Amino acid sequence: AGRPQRVRELAAERIRLRGPLLPILHAVQEEFGWISQTDIPVIADVLNLSVAEVHGVVTFYRDFRRDPAGRITVRICQAEACRSVGAVELGEHARRSTGAGFGETTADGRLTVDEVFCLGNCALGPAVQVGDKVHGRVTPARLDAILGEAR
Ligand code: FES
Repeated sequence: AGRPQRVRELAAERIRLRGPLLPILHAVQEEFGWISQTDIPVIADVLNLSVAEVHGVVTFYRDFRRDPAGRITVRICQAEACRSVGAVELGEHARRSTGAGFGETTADGRLTVDEVFCLGNCALGPAVQVGDKVHGRVTPARLDAILGEAR
């Protein structure tokens, strides 16, 4: 029941369309206001696509909102190059300073912290994305400043 079930229905209703993925994503966004990370595997399953394929389309098109309105997501890269320059510690720092671990939202509901695997900014790690903006060489102190601005 709940959202995954509804997303599955929206997807199943459109599966016969030619190129069903975009209409499905639009339908989900229309109903919920945004596309959640957890919608992606459900849609991928219905369409028999990989999670990476669906995720790629969601992130490619700017019209898909990946966060509920008014909420900001800070994504901390946890892929190899960034890990080698302190990304793991940065994630721990984010959890200590916001109370939100990866995939979690602060108590006031304003800020979600999440991990991401490569932002294409590997030479300037650790990389952190806030909205459309990617920050490079993020130290714990800079992360606090970025988080402060984001809220
Ligand atoms: Fe972090 Fe590529 S590994 S941006």
